[in-house]
Amino acid sequence: MAAAGVAPVRERFIASKERFHAYLKANGELGGQGGDKEEEEEEEASSEQSEPPAKRGRLDVQGQDGESPGEPEDGEKEPEDREKEPEDREKEPVERKRARGQNKSRPCMKPNHYEKSRLCPSVTQGCEEKCYFGPRCRFLHDVGEYMAAKPPDLGHSCVLFETFGKCPYGVTCRFAKAHLGDGHQNMVNTELAKQWEGKSLVRNSLSKDLQHQLRKKKFTFKKADEYLRSLAKPHHNDRRGGKAPGHSAEGEEVSNSTTPEDGLEETSECPVLPEGGDPKAALVQSPHPTENEGGCPTKTAGTVTDEDIVKLRSCEKKKLEIQGKLYLAPLTTCGNLPFRRICKRFGADVTCGEMAVCTNLLQGQSSEWALLKRHHTEDIFGVQLEGAFPDTMTKCAELLNQTIDVDFVDINVGCPIDLVYKKGGGCALMTRSNKFEQIVRGMNSVLDVPLTVKIRTGVQEKMNVAHKIIPKIREWGASMVTLHGRSREQRYTRVADWDYIAECAKIASPMPLFGNGDILSYEDANQAMQTGVSGIMIARGALIKPWLFTEIKEQRHWDISSSERFDILRDFTNYGLEHWGSDTQGVEKTRKFLLEWLSFLCRYIPVGLLEHLPQKINERPPYYIGRDYLETLMASQNVDDWIKISELLLGPVPTNFTFLPKHKANSYR
Ligand SMILES: Cc1cc2nc3c(=O)[nH]c(=O)nc-3n(C[C@H](O)[C@H](O)[C@H](O)COP(=O)(O)O)c2cc1C
Ligand SMILES: [Zn+2]
Ligand SMILES: [Zn+2]
Repeated sequence: MAAAGVAPVRERFIASKERFHAYLKANGELGGQGGDKEEEEEEEASSEQSEPPAKRGRLDVQGQDGESPGEPEDGEKEPEDREKEPEDREKEPVERKRARGQNKSRPCMKPNHYEKSRLCPSVTQGCEEKCYFGPRCRFLHDVGEYMAAKPPDLGHSCVLFETFGKCPYGVTCRFAKAHLGDGHQNMVNTELAKQWEGKSLVRNSLSKDLQHQLRKKKFTFKKADEYLRSLAKPHHNDRRGGKAPGHSAEGEEVSNSTTPEDGLEETSECPVLPEGGDPKAALVQSPHPTENEGGCPTKTAGTVTDEDIVKLRSCEKKKLEIQGKLYLAPLTTCGNLPFRRICKRFGADVTCGEMAVCTNLLQGQSSEWALLKRHHTEDIFGVQLEGAFPDTMTKCAELLNQTIDVDFVDINVGCPIDLVYKKGGGCALMTRSNKFEQIVRGMNSVLDVPLTVKIRTGVQEKMNVAHKIIPKIREWGASMVTLHGRSREQRYTRVADWDYIAECAKIASPMPLFGNGDILSYEDANQAMQTGVSGIMIARGALIKPWLFTEIKEQRHWDISSSERFDILRDFTNYGLEHWGSDTQGVEKTRKFLLEWLSFLCRYIPVGLLEHLPQKINERPPYYIGRDYLETLMASQNVDDWIKISELLLGPVPTNFTFLPKHKANSYR
């Protein structure tokens, strides 16, 4: 019998920590010492695996081997911590000194440092004579010189050239030999390239023109301004109205909300308290749900009356047809476009972009806009926004309504991270019902697509408030609510409260409610659906095994082999190179996101190794030797082994490479 909290892996696969690491260190060549399994099985399996190219000195990093689970971690990273987009990279030479999004907390190397001598983008794009940076340009302009210093290619075929007949990274591609002529000219497979002409595979890019308008504050927010003016009318007895002191409805917070306390109207010591001056808000923090309170929708909706709503158009809106669908959760960092493509292939129905900070979008930040990108395979797609004030949120909604193509917009009212919470956004909105209402009504009034809201059970443990807020959210015009069955304080400790989700689903009706929390098998999904929710959202389950969507749809356990899993990783890296680029920066960005994902993937326990099914999300995998070398390698919780996997796919890491995952995946408590 496995110890409590430990997944029931069959005795014959169990190994000690020492044997596990020794096995991996010897590249699976411990023979009979690797558990009770038959040796032929092992030989057969290991012969099909290539040896890791780089023999790395192993460092046993304490605390990264899954032994000490550490603090429960929600996984939602600080939103400032974004990667640079190509547009931003190109600006480096002239805009270097300007302070950008701070990212000082992790020792992750900036992609710009990977290559000493980089080729000027003007050369790559074939317009050498028009270097953007002029005489101050510190990039190379001589292709020969560049090629002489360029590190060796990482592979013989370029996925971009193979797929599209043309590789836009030209000589800078790390697979360039596949498409370079003798004089370093970039070859094109015209027939293949023609097939793709005029096809837009990824939508929702930020155009230079729009970025310029946003930076110069030239974008007009007609509907939002109208709505915000209605909020500012003096007859509102709300003393804050649409105008918080120091924050005009014109959106001053856009430019000055860079520190946690900025833009916070409540004092930071007590951000969890209901807004002062709103007697109804006090009701929000009731310890236990009662049928009656939760069940009847509030008639008057706080401080904004219907006459103030510029247009309440929820009835005119297209309905969100997502009953019974499988919704891949918005996942900061990990829920990037290449990962979502993988999940789509395995049967995810609904996908959503990573949480985007509305003030950053309003400023035209490329890295934030990148989070809105939609692959053409994402047929039901939404974006998720975070913000704390009606002005910025409503403006952002209007901006997106006019400029991008989405099926819904979601507000993240479940975000627990301090940075967001202290500003009054995320979870904190659950206790600021005035602002919450103004945000939902405002955004809804400017959006042509449905508005959805993602919440938690509440802020504090054992103080559920979702059931009180849900009828209001419905009243304010939202089309759907997703409820993660945990409180902010709880983070990932204990199981999600599906009984409470069931109650809330009843209360929400006829508005659809999606349930979220702990789904890792089709049995979990079935149980969840039995609570009466309209559908389920899956987060970590998809990161641990993206084929979960297939398992749910086909109602089976899939004993997927390590080579099949490796193929998924290969597809991800190919999608990554397509998305982030096949030059050094793109490769390293792809690697970084692969490594982030591997920090979750290692928690998967192959079906054939389990004493009884299914694997539960809160059970910690013990050390075990898999059925082949790769299966064992993929079970390692050690960063160095994840790096090894990345090297099998993307070649050796640059010198001095370090990686620390953003999300502590090892929280089994
Ligand atoms: C890595 C990671 C990133 C997340 N990012 C977001 C996010 O951007 N927006 C959001 O609403 N929730 C985010 N969440 C929370 C999940 O959407 C989900 O509510 C939570 O993980 C519970 O679902 P699960 O038990 O299926 O994992 C994130 C969770 C993880 C693990
Ligand atoms: Zn130049
Ligand atoms: Zn290429």
